[in-house]
Amino acid sequence: MGAAPARCAPRLEAAAEVRDLAEEFALDEQILSAVLDYVCRTTGLLIREDRCYRLAKACRPYHRVAFHLEKFLGAYGPAVARTDEVLQDPGTGPALRDLNALARAFGQLQPHTPSLTAQVLQAWDVTSLLDLGCGAGTLLIELASADPRFQGYGADAGQDMVRVANDRIHRAGLGHRLQVVLGDVRALGELTALPASEDVQALHGRSIMNEFFAGDGSSAIGVLAGLKARFPGRLLFLEDYYGRLTHDSPADGSHGHTLAQDLAQVLSGQGVPPLDLPGWAGVYQEADCTLVKAYEGDNDGVAWFIHVVAL
Ligand SMILES: C[S@@+](CC[C@H](N)C(=O)[O-])C[C@H]1O[C@@H](n2cnc3c(N)ncnc32)[C@H](O)[C@@H]1O
Repeated sequence: MGAAPARCAPRLEAAAEVRDLAEEFALDEQILSAVLDYVCRTTGLLIREDRCYRLAKACRPYHRVAFHLEKFLGAYGPAVARTDEVLQDPGTGPALRDLNALARAFGQLQPHTPSLTAQVLQAWDVTSLLDLGCGAGTLLIELASADPRFQGYGADAGQDMVRVANDRIHRAGLGHRLQVVLGDVRALGELTALPASEDVQALHGRSIMNEFFAGDGSSAIGVLAGLKARFPGRLLFLEDYYGRLTHDSPADGSHGHTLAQDLAQVLSGQGVPPLDLPGWAGVYQEADCTLVKAYEGDNDGVAWFIHVVAL
């Protein structure tokens, strides 16, 4: 299965005929019919009602099913499908990640507002922010919509992400207060369009730091050290997850979602992030940064956190 059936997923929350789905998503009806029939017969994901398919009852309340399908099948599916190749030549992994599918997955997210992130940033009275790996600009738009004083900047390495973010910003009428540029956080020196350190009160990065743990994790330390050199003394709000695969963690069966994310990370050349707070704190320390506060929780089988780090 690939990205196209994943795009149909939100429509399958209610019963839908194959013919209608094929027309709506410009897919071949006969092939789509065979794919859905296969999924229905071999997994518990779909049920068939007459000529219609719909998500099985157990899947319907699952939070953000379309997002997860697009992310795991669309963005990471190609790397998982070629596990043999990646095992023999790990260098092929990063190029197998489909960043356009990742952009589509994050672009369709409609978070509940106020999001937890926004609440945390507001509690720290943050009114200007640089969002690293800002994706579709979701957080920046939320913050600017909630506070007329807010000024935001974003940087993302995905061309499609930057386009999606700027489209959304302009549609929201926030172009005068938000600005998103194309850029790689590993090469901050080349990013001339970034704001000056005195123009941003804080930095934020959600689901970006976990990308830099392949090998010995020195790449994560390098990114933090680069941020510290460019934005000394600023607070960095890092939102991410505690990894499990290859760490000495109990097999408690409640973190299936984390294991899937870890595997996708490994096969696409990102590595598994540290297991716990001391593990992450060690990374901050290596980069000469200080952990100031940690918010932690467990949701959908993922142990997540927001760390406040002083650069
Ligand atoms: C998992 S998405 C999260 C997006 C957004 N932060 C959110 O939570 O909605 C990670 C984002 O980081 C971007 N990214 C990955 N590597 C990057 C890098 N080296 N520099 C800048 N952005 C990067 C990706 O293009 C993607 O948009």
